[in-house]
Amino acid sequence: MRLENKVAIVTGGAQGLGEAYSIGMAREGASVVIADVDELSGHKVEGQIRNSGGKALFVKTDVSRKADTEAMVQKAIKEFDRLDIIVNNAGILFTAPVEDTTGEMWDKMFAVNVKGLFFCCQAAAKVMKKQKSGKIINISSIAAIGAQAGLCAYSSCKGAILPITRVFALELCKWNVQVNALLPGTTDTGMAKLAMADPNWTRQVTQSIPMGRLGMTDELLGAVLYFASDDSKYCTGQTLIVDGGYSMV
Ligand SMILES: NC(=O)c1ccc[n+]([C@@H]2O[C@H](COP(=O)([O-])OP(=O)(O)OC[C@H]3O[C@@H](n4cnc5c(N)ncnc54)[C@H](O)[C@@H]3O)[C@@H](O)[C@H]2O)c1
Repeated sequence: MRLENKVAIVTGGAQGLGEAYSIGMAREGASVVIADVDELSGHKVEGQIRNSGGKALFVKTDVSRKADTEAMVQKAIKEFDRLDIIVNNAGILFTAPVEDTTGEMWDKMFAVNVKGLFFCCQAAAKVMKKQKSGKIINISSIAAIGAQAGLCAYSSCKGAILPITRVFALELCKWNVQVNALLPGTTDTGMAKLAMADPNWTRQVTQSIPMGRLGMTDELLGAVLYFASDDSKYCTGQTLIVDGGYSMV
Protein backbone atom coordinates (compact mmCIF):
# COMPACT_ATOMS: atom_id res chain seq x y z
CA MET A 1 0.00 0.00 0.00
CA ARG A 2 1.40 3.37 -1.06
CA LEU A 3 0.07 5.51 1.81
CA GLU A 4 0.46 3.24 4.82
CA ASN A 5 0.58 5.19 8.13
CA LYS A 6 -0.07 8.48 6.30
CA VAL A 7 -2.75 10.94 7.37
CA ALA A 8 -4.63 12.84 4.67
CA ILE A 9 -7.26 15.57 4.55
CA VAL A 10 -9.54 15.82 1.52
CA THR A 11 -11.57 19.04 1.36
CA GLY A 12 -14.84 18.64 -0.50
CA GLY A 13 -14.43 14.92 0.17
CA ALA A 14 -18.15 14.19 0.59
CA GLN A 15 -19.01 13.62 -3.07
CA GLY A 16 -17.75 13.59 -6.65
CA LEU A 17 -13.99 13.66 -7.19
CA GLY A 18 -13.27 14.30 -3.50
CA GLU A 19 -15.19 11.17 -2.52
CA ALA A 20 -13.10 9.13 -5.00
CA TYR A 21 -9.86 10.63 -3.61
CA SER A 22 -10.95 9.91 0.01
CA ILE A 23 -11.92 6.29 -0.66
CA GLY A 24 -8.91 5.71 -2.94
CA MET A 25 -6.38 7.08 -0.45
CA ALA A 26 -7.96 5.08 2.40
CA ARG A 27 -7.63 1.95 0.22
CA GLU A 28 -3.90 2.74 -0.05
CA GLY A 29 -3.63 2.75 3.75
CA ALA A 30 -4.10 6.44 4.64
CA SER A 31 -6.25 7.65 7.54
CA VAL A 32 -8.55 10.15 5.86
CA VAL A 33 -10.25 13.29 7.16
CA ILE A 34 -13.22 14.22 4.99
CA ALA A 35 -13.68 17.98 5.33
CA ASP A 36 -16.88 19.28 3.77
CA VAL A 37 -19.92 21.52 4.36
CA ASP A 38 -22.20 18.60 3.50
CA GLU A 39 -22.60 16.63 6.76
CA LEU A 40 -24.90 13.90 5.46
CA SER A 41 -22.76 12.90 2.47
CA GLY A 42 -19.54 13.42 4.47
CA HIS A 43 -20.66 10.98 7.17
CA LYS A 44 -21.66 8.47 4.43
CA VAL A 45 -18.12 8.50 2.99
CA GLU A 46 -16.68 8.24 6.52
CA GLY A 47 -18.92 5.19 7.16
CA GLN A 48 -18.02 3.58 3.84
CA ILE A 49 -14.29 3.81 4.58
CA ARG A 50 -14.71 2.52 8.15
CA ASN A 51 -16.92 -0.37 6.97
CA SER A 52 -14.16 -1.47 4.61
CA GLY A 53 -11.67 -1.55 7.48
CA GLY A 54 -10.12 1.89 6.89
CA LYS A 55 -9.72 4.88 9.18
CA ALA A 56 -11.79 8.01 8.51
CA LEU A 57 -13.16 11.07 10.25
CA PHE A 58 -15.70 13.56 8.94
CA VAL A 59 -15.06 17.15 10.02
CA LYS A 60 -17.65 19.75 9.08
CA THR A 61 -15.63 22.49 7.40
CA ASP A 62 -16.41 25.56 5.35
CA VAL A 63 -13.05 26.21 3.68
CA SER A 64 -13.92 29.86 3.08
CA ARG A 65 -13.71 30.40 6.87
CA LYS A 66 -10.12 30.55 8.11
CA ALA A 67 -11.11 29.40 11.63
CA ASP A 68 -12.76 26.28 10.14
CA THR A 69 -9.61 25.36 8.18
CA GLU A 70 -7.46 25.71 11.31
CA ALA A 71 -9.92 23.59 13.34
CA MET A 72 -9.94 20.98 10.52
CA VAL A 73 -6.17 20.56 10.77
CA GLN A 74 -6.24 20.49 14.58
CA LYS A 75 -8.97 17.79 14.57
CA ALA A 76 -6.95 15.71 12.09
CA ILE A 77 -3.93 15.88 14.39
CA LYS A 78 -5.96 15.19 17.54
CA GLU A 79 -7.46 12.07 15.95
CA PHE A 80 -4.50 10.75 13.95
CA ASP A 81 -1.41 12.51 15.48
CA ARG A 82 -0.01 14.06 12.30
CA LEU A 83 -0.80 15.42 8.85
CA ASP A 84 1.04 14.16 5.77
CA ILE A 85 -1.24 15.06 2.86
CA ILE A 86 -3.92 17.63 2.06
CA VAL A 87 -5.95 17.53 -1.14
CA ASN A 88 -7.49 20.97 -1.62
CA ASN A 89 -10.42 19.84 -3.70
CA ALA A 90 -13.48 21.76 -2.37
CA GLY A 91 -14.92 23.92 -5.10
CA ILE A 92 -18.09 25.53 -6.42
CA LEU A 93 -19.21 26.53 -9.88
CA PHE A 94 -21.75 29.01 -11.26
CA THR A 95 -21.91 29.43 -15.02
CA ALA A 96 -22.97 32.60 -16.83
CA PRO A 97 -22.00 34.54 -19.94
CA VAL A 98 -19.55 37.33 -19.08
CA GLU A 99 -22.18 40.07 -19.26
CA ASP A 100 -24.45 38.20 -16.80
CA THR A 101 -21.75 37.27 -14.28
CA THR A 102 -22.61 39.16 -11.10
CA GLY A 103 -20.27 40.46 -8.41
CA GLU A 104 -21.97 38.08 -6.00
CA MET A 105 -21.16 35.03 -8.18
CA TRP A 106 -17.58 36.25 -8.54
CA ASP A 107 -17.15 36.79 -4.77
CA LYS A 108 -18.76 33.46 -3.78
CA MET A 109 -16.58 31.46 -6.16
CA PHE A 110 -13.39 33.28 -5.17
CA ALA A 111 -14.22 32.86 -1.43
CA VAL A 112 -14.35 29.05 -1.72
CA ASN A 113 -12.16 28.22 -4.73
CA VAL A 114 -9.28 30.63 -4.09
CA LYS A 115 -9.34 32.12 -0.58
CA GLY A 116 -10.54 28.80 0.90
CA LEU A 117 -7.78 26.85 -0.86
CA PHE A 118 -5.24 29.44 0.32
CA PHE A 119 -6.43 29.14 3.96
CA CYS A 120 -6.15 25.33 3.74
CA CYS A 121 -2.60 25.57 2.32
CA GLN A 122 -1.66 27.94 5.18
CA ALA A 123 -3.16 25.77 7.92
CA ALA A 124 -1.53 22.59 6.56
CA ALA A 125 1.83 24.30 5.92
CA LYS A 126 2.06 25.35 9.58
CA VAL A 127 2.12 21.71 10.80
CA MET A 128 3.99 20.26 7.82
CA LYS A 129 6.86 22.73 8.43
CA LYS A 130 7.13 21.50 12.03
CA GLN A 131 7.12 17.87 10.82
CA LYS A 132 9.61 18.72 8.04
CA SER A 133 7.52 16.77 5.53
CA GLY A 134 4.23 17.01 3.71
CA LYS A 135 2.33 16.96 0.44
CA ILE A 136 -0.11 19.66 -0.63
CA ILE A 137 -2.20 18.87 -3.70
CA ASN A 138 -4.25 21.73 -5.15
CA ILE A 139 -7.10 20.92 -7.48
CA SER A 140 -7.24 23.39 -10.35
CA SER A 141 -8.89 22.62 -13.71
CA ILE A 142 -8.29 22.69 -17.45
CA ALA A 143 -10.47 25.80 -17.20
CA ALA A 144 -7.31 27.50 -15.87
CA ILE A 145 -5.55 27.15 -19.22
CA GLY A 146 -8.25 27.26 -21.92
CA ALA A 147 -11.33 29.36 -22.57
CA GLN A 148 -14.79 27.87 -22.14
CA ALA A 149 -17.92 30.00 -22.62
CA GLY A 150 -19.76 30.72 -19.36
CA LEU A 151 -16.78 30.00 -17.13
CA CYS A 152 -15.05 33.40 -16.83
CA ALA A 153 -15.19 33.67 -13.01
CA TYR A 154 -14.62 29.94 -12.44
CA SER A 155 -11.64 29.87 -14.85
CA SER A 156 -10.16 32.93 -13.13
CA CYS A 157 -10.38 31.09 -9.78
CA LYS A 158 -8.77 27.96 -11.19
CA GLY A 159 -6.04 30.06 -12.84
CA ALA A 160 -5.25 31.74 -9.50
CA ILE A 161 -4.50 28.31 -8.00
CA LEU A 162 -1.43 27.91 -10.24
CA PRO A 163 0.67 30.80 -8.80
CA ILE A 164 -0.56 29.94 -5.29
CA THR A 165 0.81 26.42 -5.86
CA ARG A 166 4.18 27.66 -7.14
CA VAL A 167 4.75 30.22 -4.37
CA PHE A 168 3.83 27.76 -1.59
CA ALA A 169 6.09 25.19 -3.30
CA LEU A 170 9.01 27.62 -3.38
CA GLU A 171 8.58 28.83 0.20
CA LEU A 172 8.13 25.30 1.62
CA CYS A 173 10.99 23.57 -0.25
CA LYS A 174 13.39 23.83 2.64
CA TRP A 175 10.97 22.05 4.96
CA ASN A 176 10.60 19.09 2.58
CA VAL A 177 7.00 19.95 1.74
CA GLN A 178 5.98 19.42 -1.91
CA VAL A 179 3.13 21.43 -3.40
CA ASN A 180 1.66 20.50 -6.78
CA ALA A 181 -1.51 21.12 -8.77
CA LEU A 182 -3.78 18.73 -10.64
CA LEU A 183 -5.83 19.97 -13.58
CA PRO A 184 -8.72 17.58 -14.24
CA GLY A 185 -10.62 17.73 -17.51
CA THR A 186 -14.40 17.58 -17.51
CA THR A 187 -15.28 14.68 -15.23
CA ASP A 188 -18.63 13.03 -14.66
CA THR A 189 -19.75 14.54 -11.31
CA GLY A 190 -22.57 16.71 -9.96
CA MET A 191 -20.54 19.80 -10.84
CA ALA A 192 -20.11 18.75 -14.47
CA LYS A 193 -23.84 17.93 -14.71
CA LEU A 194 -24.59 21.48 -13.57
CA ALA A 195 -22.35 22.95 -16.25
CA MET A 196 -23.68 20.53 -18.86
CA ALA A 197 -27.38 21.08 -18.27
CA ASP A 198 -27.40 22.66 -21.73
CA PRO A 199 -27.30 19.74 -24.24
CA ASN A 200 -25.48 21.88 -26.84
CA TRP A 201 -22.71 22.51 -24.39
CA THR A 202 -22.56 18.82 -23.52
CA ARG A 203 -22.19 17.88 -27.19
CA GLN A 204 -19.59 20.57 -27.75
CA VAL A 205 -17.51 19.52 -24.72
CA THR A 206 -17.62 15.81 -25.51
CA GLN A 207 -16.71 16.43 -29.16
CA SER A 208 -13.70 18.50 -28.12
CA ILE A 209 -12.23 15.66 -26.02
CA PRO A 210 -10.00 13.49 -28.28
CA MET A 211 -10.86 10.41 -26.19
CA GLY A 212 -14.52 11.17 -26.97
CA ARG A 213 -15.94 11.01 -23.44
CA LEU A 214 -15.89 12.66 -20.03
CA GLY A 215 -13.44 11.49 -17.37
CA MET A 216 -14.65 9.17 -14.60
CA THR A 217 -13.87 10.07 -10.98
CA ASP A 218 -11.53 7.11 -10.43
CA GLU A 219 -9.49 8.16 -13.48
CA LEU A 220 -8.15 11.17 -11.55
CA LEU A 221 -7.15 9.14 -8.51
CA GLY A 222 -3.82 7.91 -9.93
CA ALA A 223 -2.56 11.48 -10.31
CA VAL A 224 -3.53 12.28 -6.71
CA LEU A 225 -1.77 9.13 -5.46
CA TYR A 226 1.36 10.12 -7.40
CA PHE A 227 1.44 13.58 -5.76
CA ALA A 228 0.51 12.13 -2.33
CA SER A 229 3.13 9.38 -2.24
CA ASP A 230 6.93 9.16 -2.18
CA ASP A 231 6.78 8.60 -5.96
CA SER A 232 6.74 12.41 -6.32
CA LYS A 233 9.37 13.31 -3.72
CA TYR A 234 11.50 15.27 -6.25
CA CYS A 235 8.47 16.97 -7.85
CA THR A 236 7.25 20.35 -6.59
CA GLY A 237 5.52 23.45 -7.98
CA GLN A 238 4.27 21.45 -10.97
CA THR A 239 0.96 20.90 -12.73
CA LEU A 240 -0.39 17.65 -14.10
CA ILE A 241 -3.23 17.67 -16.64
CA VAL A 242 -5.54 14.62 -16.83
CA ASP A 243 -8.16 15.45 -19.46
CA GLY A 244 -8.55 12.75 -22.13
CA GLY A 245 -6.32 14.82 -24.41
CA TYR A 246 -8.56 17.94 -24.41
CA SER A 247 -5.72 20.43 -23.95
CA MET A 248 -3.34 18.92 -26.54
CA VAL A 249 -5.40 20.03 -29.56
N1 LIG B 1 -16.05 17.72 -12.34
C1 LIG B 1 -15.27 18.31 -13.22
O1 LIG B 1 -15.48 18.25 -14.44
C2 LIG B 1 -14.05 19.07 -12.74
C3 LIG B 1 -13.08 19.43 -13.70
C4 LIG B 1 -11.96 20.13 -13.28
C5 LIG B 1 -11.80 20.46 -11.96
N2 LIG B 1 -12.75 20.11 -11.04
C6 LIG B 1 -12.55 20.51 -9.65
O2 LIG B 1 -12.52 19.36 -8.85
C7 LIG B 1 -13.06 19.67 -7.55
C8 LIG B 1 -14.19 18.70 -7.23
O3 LIG B 1 -15.17 18.81 -8.24
P1 LIG B 1 -16.45 17.87 -8.31
O4 LIG B 1 -16.82 17.81 -9.73
O5 LIG B 1 -16.21 16.62 -7.55
O6 LIG B 1 -17.51 18.78 -7.54
P2 LIG B 1 -18.79 18.38 -6.67
O7 LIG B 1 -19.70 19.56 -6.74
O8 LIG B 1 -19.31 17.05 -7.06
O9 LIG B 1 -18.16 18.27 -5.18
C9 LIG B 1 -17.63 19.41 -4.54
C10 LIG B 1 -17.59 19.15 -3.04
O10 LIG B 1 -17.10 20.34 -2.40
C11 LIG B 1 -17.92 20.61 -1.27
N3 LIG B 1 -17.87 22.04 -0.94
C12 LIG B 1 -18.44 23.07 -1.60
N4 LIG B 1 -18.21 24.23 -0.97
C13 LIG B 1 -17.45 23.92 0.11
C14 LIG B 1 -16.89 24.69 1.16
N5 LIG B 1 -17.08 26.01 1.24
N6 LIG B 1 -16.17 24.06 2.12
C15 LIG B 1 -15.99 22.71 2.07
N7 LIG B 1 -16.51 21.93 1.11
C16 LIG B 1 -17.23 22.53 0.14
C17 LIG B 1 -19.31 20.14 -1.69
O11 LIG B 1 -20.16 19.96 -0.58
C18 LIG B 1 -18.97 18.87 -2.43
O12 LIG B 1 -18.91 17.76 -1.56
C19 LIG B 1 -13.49 21.13 -7.62
O13 LIG B 1 -12.47 21.95 -7.09
C20 LIG B 1 -13.65 21.37 -9.09
O14 LIG B 1 -13.49 22.73 -9.43
C21 LIG B 1 -13.87 19.42 -11.41
